[in-house]
Amino acid sequence: MRIDILTLFPESFAPLNESILKRAQESGKLEINYINIRDFSNNKHKKCDDYPFGGGAGMLMSVQPIYDAFKSLNAESAHVVMASPSGETLTPALAKELAKKDHLVFICGHYEGVDQRVNDLLKPQEISIGDYVLTGGELPTMVIIDCLARFIDGVITAESLNEESFANDMLEYPQYTRPQTFEGLSVPEVLISGNHQEIANWRKEESLKKTKARRPDLLNKKESE
Ligand SMILES: C[S@@+](CC[C@H](N)C(=O)[O-])C[C@H]1O[C@@H](n2cnc3c(N)ncnc32)[C@H](O)[C@@H]1O
Repeated sequence: MRIDILTLFPESFAPLNESILKRAQESGKLEINYINIRDFSNNKHKKCDDYPFGGGAGMLMSVQPIYDAFKSLNAESAHVVMASPSGETLTPALAKELAKKDHLVFICGHYEGVDQRVNDLLKPQEISIGDYVLTGGELPTMVIIDCLARFIDGVITAESLNEESFANDMLEYPQYTRPQTFEGLSVPEVLISGNHQEIANWRKEESLKKTKARRPDLLNKKESE
């Protein structure tokens, strides 16, 4: 998959070059390019924001540099995404859909957001990462990319995906690794029993217990399906 990110702050994306996403890029499963919107500003001072018409707090990102940055990609067939508090909420199902695309272009808003004509002209799919407001689109874009990359074939194992929180509308059971005892706390006996059926039963029960206690809405959703 190819991803192009249009942003005023390309340096913010260093976390995408670590760990699993770094390996995904090294193995060619994922290619990420950064386009600095400022390079496309027609303004002699390379300004990319301005006051909102009608007044109001803060500055808005101007349409011209974003539009020209996008056009420079010749990416008419790409799927365009913009992080926005007004968008549909990110879910595993939405991330899975995005992971099927060959080419994604992310537009990162900042300050008070972007001129509406960016939406009108480039028609991005707007995606929210939750009901709160961040200072810019860079962090939510990284969240969306990290989330969808896990669904690209071979980036992580299918087994990891199936056992994860929210798969089957459940939260994950508690997990333990070595040492067997730490500060007087021991790993549940069943996990060292070697009995795969009992381990699977225990995990299922613990998963249900945790989901009931913390996210009963997930179980209700499951029942109503
Ligand atoms: C300060 S926010 C703009 C908020 C906008 N004025 C509003 O009230 O909806 C600046 C940028 O951060 C990003 N952003 C902030 N919160 C977000 C969220 N919860 N989900 C996705 N993107 C978000 C968007 O790209 C947005 O354009």
